[in-house]
Amino acid sequence: MQQRIIILDFGSQYTQLIARRIRELNTYCEIHPYNKFPKDRQDVIGVILSGSPYSVNDPEALQIDLSEIRGTYPLLGICYGAQYLAKTSGGSVASSNTREYGRAQLVWHDDADPLMHGVRDNSTVWMSHGDSITSTPAGFANVGSTADVKNAAYRIEGELTWGVQFHPEVFHSEDGLVVLGNFVKEICGSHGDWTPASFIESTVAQLRGQLGDDKVVLALSGGVDSTVAAVLLNRAIGSNLTCIFVDNGLLRYHEFEDVLASYADMGLNVIGVDAKDHFYSQLAGVTDPEQKRKVIGRGFIDIFDREAQKLTDIKWLAQGTIYPDVIESLSITGMVIKSHHNVGGLPEKMNLKLVEPLRLLFKDEVRRVGRELGISQNLIGRHPFPGPGLGVRILGEVTAEKVRILQEADHYFIKGLRDNGLYDQVWQAGTILLPIRSVGVMGDERTYENVVALRAVNSTDGMTATWSHLPYEFLGNVSNEIINKVRGVNRVVYDISSKPPSTIEWE
Ligand code: XMP
Repeated sequence: MQQRIIILDFGSQYTQLIARRIRELNTYCEIHPYNKFPKDRQDVIGVILSGSPYSVNDPEALQIDLSEIRGTYPLLGICYGAQYLAKTSGGSVASSNTREYGRAQLVWHDDADPLMHGVRDNSTVWMSHGDSITSTPAGFANVGSTADVKNAAYRIEGELTWGVQFHPEVFHSEDGLVVLGNFVKEICGSHGDWTPASFIESTVAQLRGQLGDDKVVLALSGGVDSTVAAVLLNRAIGSNLTCIFVDNGLLRYHEFEDVLASYADMGLNVIGVDAKDHFYSQLAGVTDPEQKRKVIGRGFIDIFDREAQKLTDIKWLAQGTIYPDVIESLSITGMVIKSHHNVGGLPEKMNLKLVEPLRLLFKDEVRRVGRELGISQNLIGRHPFPGPGLGVRILGEVTAEKVRILQEADHYFIKGLRDNGLYDQVWQAGTILLPIRSVGVMGDERTYENVVALRAVNSTDGMTATWSHLPYEFLGNVSNEIINKVRGVNRVVYDISSKPPSTIEWE
């Protein structure tokens, strides 16, 4: 049976990171709101209490009843979790005189403690809390301290419970992964067998059971998530899966043809729909960015619905929803699942049941599963691309001619990044067509033409981003190429804004 670690979320900014680190240890884990310990728990091998923005001394601090957990499952409290365990056992927590934020050196006191096997003495750990545990009740063995925090790590005697004031999940905690590995593997007894191959095997079996001989439809976007979802479903149910790939006229240069060809090579049953004209006519005269998004989203639903109606006996709609989409909406006060941005509203409209084979995976795991499924690096390593496509990169009204200009300019930029080995060094890159013209000179003639902006950013999740320091020479060459080859462009600029305060997309 699959083993599972439960992370109870008290709202820390690092909760997702704990989950990702544990998955890196090839152990399956799930995040649940702090007060929703799952009822179905025969596969649970351990529990982690996360950090929190609250102080345990706040009147509104989040409280839970640990009686079903403590002593029954191995338990690790991190930061707030550790303080909560100490305080509710009769210890005390106070806001420290010397608030310890950032790096600190951890000294271990008990070499035999299983949580610290292989952790170097004086290794750097990351602290991020204004409170410290000032006294611990009987039965708490102090196993580690830093210069300012005496009870930086403790063990509760007679149970498999530990608390750490520092954050083992963050990168700056040097031996943090060793600490988590000790907890998950040595203390909880994880077999470490959650791998892409095991995920594929169990998911394919589960999809076969769930779907039987039913027919399924899936919207492909050319992106990583929908592609991996499709290949996985194809492995499970073969030709009972039909994919629809819509050309909304806002894809990249030659993208529709190229991606369609790769899908065919992978053996997917794909219907390619050329709906460019439909989208351009719906977008005529629309200049407001949010309005454009709505028009594009609605256009997609209309076309997808029209095509899906032509298929017979469809019972399921498959989507490439991934874990961050699911947990983002699992607020710690309730549980509301966000509908997927591109196809929201479809399941109800079409009266279909939803199947989401990737809803347990983080993005990097989706990529690993994709590689294991044999999907080419060209598809797996693609930069993120917004659902509304070039629609939000053409500022102002979208027309077929503007799409042509932007596709060509973007093509030279992206090709340049690939040819120069820079593509994988940036997180996302794209080109924006500005709604202004500027004066130039070509040969003896004055020109009055379009300006395009190049954008390349480094990021981990798109929430924050810094502009990429691409080499000047590279930028110069791309600029020359675009201005020489793309009819209608006589000026190229490079966007040097970070997010925040800017965003990645211009609209
Ligand atoms: P921003 O512009 O908000 O973008 O900094 C963050 C990330 O989200 C992508 N993005 C979108 N993706 N539909 C999408 O599917 C959208 O409407 C949309 N807007 C932005 C953007 O490309 C970046 O990766």
